[in-house]
Amino acid sequence: MSDRKLAVIVLAAGQGTRMKSDLPKVLHPLAGRPMVRHLMETVAALSPDRVVVVVGPGMEAVSQAVAPAVTVLQAERNGTAHAVLQAQQALAGYDGDLLVLYGDTPCLSLETLSTLIARRRADDNPGVVVLGFEPVDPSRYGRLVMGATGLDAIVEWKDANDAQRQIRLCNSGVMALDGARAWDWLRRIGNDNAAGEFYLTDAVGLARQDGAPCAVVLGREDELQGVNSRAELAVLEAKVQLGLRLRAMDAGATLIAPETVFFSWDTKLGRDVVVWPNVIFAPGVQIGDGVAIKGFCHFEGCVVTGPAEIGPYARLRPGAKIAPDVHLGNFVEVKNSQVGRGAKINHLTYVGDAHIGAGTNVGAGVITANYDGFTKSVTTIGEKVSIGSNVVLVAPVTIGDGAIVGAGSVITEDVAPDALALARGRQSQKSGWAAFFRKTKTDK
Ligand code: UD1
Ligand code: CA
Repeated sequence: MSDRKLAVIVLAAGQGTRMKSDLPKVLHPLAGRPMVRHLMETVAALSPDRVVVVVGPGMEAVSQAVAPAVTVLQAERNGTAHAVLQAQQALAGYDGDLLVLYGDTPCLSLETLSTLIARRRADDNPGVVVLGFEPVDPSRYGRLVMGATGLDAIVEWKDANDAQRQIRLCNSGVMALDGARAWDWLRRIGNDNAAGEFYLTDAVGLARQDGAPCAVVLGREDELQGVNSRAELAVLEAKVQLGLRLRAMDAGATLIAPETVFFSWDTKLGRDVVVWPNVIFAPGVQIGDGVAIKGFCHFEGCVVTGPAEIGPYARLRPGAKIAPDVHLGNFVEVKNSQVGRGAKINHLTYVGDAHIGAGTNVGAGVITANYDGFTKSVTTIGEKVSIGSNVVLVAPVTIGDGAIVGAGSVITEDVAPDALALARGRQSQKSGWAAFFRKTKTDK
């Protein structure tokens, strides 16, 4: 790309009324992160000199989400041209190209944006280049009116006559403008129209009046889908998930039923990872090479170093770090804990705030009781330890290397290395008592 300067203006002041949400629309997540962050990542790849995000009142959370980009406030929602004008002061002294994007249209590709900017910089020096598209259902989009020498005008659906409404070429809202001339056009835009708003789209007509050519670059409908409702959010989520599944498979993971596996934007799967159906990766998950993940597992904020066998029905919560050759079986929950190489925790267990040494076996139904209602305490289990079934380890407690803890024990004190610890009622037996008992019941 040329060495001309580029400023990106992201419009995000809309309330998102149709979302019926207390959360600003652009903060609704796609694949586990706010949709506007997806857009900001694409923007960053353009290496712009400036980025300004236009937000509405009470949208401090949006400002935080887009930092370090500058945000400016549009106090009243008076239209898209009015919104862009709010960024002028933040761009004082800047006369490079302007790229206007919508915060609620987050799936634009880098290629499309690069094509748009390149067209703006072509020799005919167009004042405005609009990203147009031909949607299957053009419904209420603004229409692009083409003339002999390019784009003549954009007419909003509300203001269009019947002939103009027949035009299939629509305005996506994305446009590139010559920053040296655009502020003048933007200031001259009025609000004498059906919506009583200052339309950014009117910049085209004003540029043409000044003799500046305007142009259209054609985009793909699938990357121009915006979010106005929860249903449209779900459509985009499905599209993003499709991309993430392909990315995982390209990187060498087998997904047995890809459509049932849900990723976050940052999920990392290694080579020869096999994912059985119905698995969810919340944000912050790294799965190393050769990990087998059986069905119905849930991962969040955890690292599994392969090879390992996880699930079915395992839950790895934030801070779980799983060493190679570990087996975690059904209904095993691990939170903020390290599980050492070759350890096996196969059934119905809660491991929280614990260190488990290499080669240790944790029996069925073991619980680390890490919380007394006030503080969380640590359980430390050494190497090659055997914890019997249905043991409660009341933290803080330490089990030494090579120790054995008998089934059913409630362990409240440290256990020495290589010791046997038993903490349960002793068994008693009354010979013949059961037969006697039955007889007293049946003789009556
Ligand atoms: C706009 C275009 C229309 C195009 C359509 C594509 C105008 C006048 N119309 O219409 O030609 O086909 O997008 O989706 O530009 N926003 C602000 N402040 C405002 C108004 C809007 O920040 O005062 C933001 C919104 O948050 C949104 C974007 O600008 O992200 C578009 O606004 P919206 O009201 O959805 O525009 P449309 O009427 O759909
Ligand atoms: Ca819209």
